[in-house]
Amino acid sequence: MADRKLILTDPETNKQLDLSVVAGSEGDPTLDIAGLYPKLGYFTFDPGYGSTASCKSDITFIDGGAGILRYRGYPIEQLAEQSSFLECAYLLLYGELPTQEEFTDFDHDITYHTMVHEKINSFMQGFHYDAHPMAILAGVVGSMAAFYHDKLDVNDPDQRDLAAKRLIAKMPTIAAAAYRHSQGWPSAYPKNSLGYSERFLNMMFSVPAEPYEINPVAAKALDLLFILHADHEQNASTSTVRLVGSTGANPYACVAAGISALWGPAHGGANEAVLKMLNEIGTVKRVPEFIQRAKDRDDPFRLMGFGHRVYKNHDPRATIIRKACHEVLEDLGQADELLDLAMELERIALEDEFFIERKLYPNVDFYSGIIYKALNIPTSMFTAMFAIGRTVGWVSQWLEQSATPTRIGRPRQIYTGATEREYVAIEQR
Ligand code: ACO
Repeated sequence: MADRKLILTDPETNKQLDLSVVAGSEGDPTLDIAGLYPKLGYFTFDPGYGSTASCKSDITFIDGGAGILRYRGYPIEQLAEQSSFLECAYLLLYGELPTQEEFTDFDHDITYHTMVHEKINSFMQGFHYDAHPMAILAGVVGSMAAFYHDKLDVNDPDQRDLAAKRLIAKMPTIAAAAYRHSQGWPSAYPKNSLGYSERFLNMMFSVPAEPYEINPVAAKALDLLFILHADHEQNASTSTVRLVGSTGANPYACVAAGISALWGPAHGGANEAVLKMLNEIGTVKRVPEFIQRAKDRDDPFRLMGFGHRVYKNHDPRATIIRKACHEVLEDLGQADELLDLAMELERIALEDEFFIERKLYPNVDFYSGIIYKALNIPTSMFTAMFAIGRTVGWVSQWLEQSATPTRIGRPRQIYTGATEREYVAIEQR
């Protein structure tokens, strides 16, 4: 495979270009087109990057046709069943599962950095009470560069590692504080005797007036959701982090940009949109009406939580979450009509020619909101929950990129505007 080439001939000039086929350790072969413009004078046009690999990466592998997702070679199903979020974080960051000693050190480092500067708490007070948590998250994470400006040298591996750990450690603290701000509750400091997910639940829900008991079922479910959201190769928010990172910008700026990209309903904002959609549908009887709307080309409505750019088969994360949904609701002794509704929606959609033809399956966010809801996490926080998990992926990809010589990301365009024309003075227009 190493020497495979495709020969491209320009029929106008008869110039030829050998395009090398670049193979990864697995996955589809890729054409190296970097010589195309310098040698033949053509750009490529691929809006939405459906046929474009933007980088080489050792971190996450997806086979969308087969419904496979692996972190550093480990199948997501095994990690979901046997690992923990913090162990997966170590794996994604450093490439190997940690030994007990490595894990203890890593856990200590993350735990040590969970508190935020007190001025960040005061900064948070400046937001209006009904600010969306994602707006707060993007603003506060971006502001972290102002608090750690002495440790922003992106060329220093130790400073990069410290920033990565600070981001992973503080994201839950900031997300929980955003929620408490909307409730008018006093700050809750991270309790470092707790594990990562327990600590987050405690920061979300504990109040000074009475003791808060952490439900182990809730903590386990949360940990699972964080694992499943931790990385997903070059998705829109991760590509955003890498693009910003390619300019040499500091990691807090990169991750703040990633948070903003995640917020969109076509990406991480879908989990919030799914719950709103299920509530709007309301009853199983109305499912066909909404399926019909999703199929109507004149209606902008889409089935939220359905479809994926890469998976043209079941999203393996959705399969795990659907199962977890049943278990969590049962363990918590809750029934949720929305789960029945979601299952009916999935069943009808998967029998419909429109969805079969387009290979549209439930994605990671179709069922995640039902679990969040069971854990009392408000809908407006759903995308922030996604951001907590995905922070690990963003910083892992940023660390990988920062350790490799990288050119600034700078796509070109097909210009379709006016050709040259003369300026006309305002009084003559
Ligand atoms: N409901 C109805 N039709 C859909 C849906 C949907 N959810 N998703 C795709 N389609 C249709 C499109 O209308 C299009 O049909 P056409 O060929 O007749 O025009 C076809 O399927 C292909 O869709 P594209 O938009 O070209 O697919 P793309 O890969 O660009 O988009 C995306 C993927 C954004 C995820 C899309 O499926 C979508 O909008 N889904 C709903 C939002 C969602 O759940 N996003 C979360 C994604 S996962 C994540 O980021 C965590």
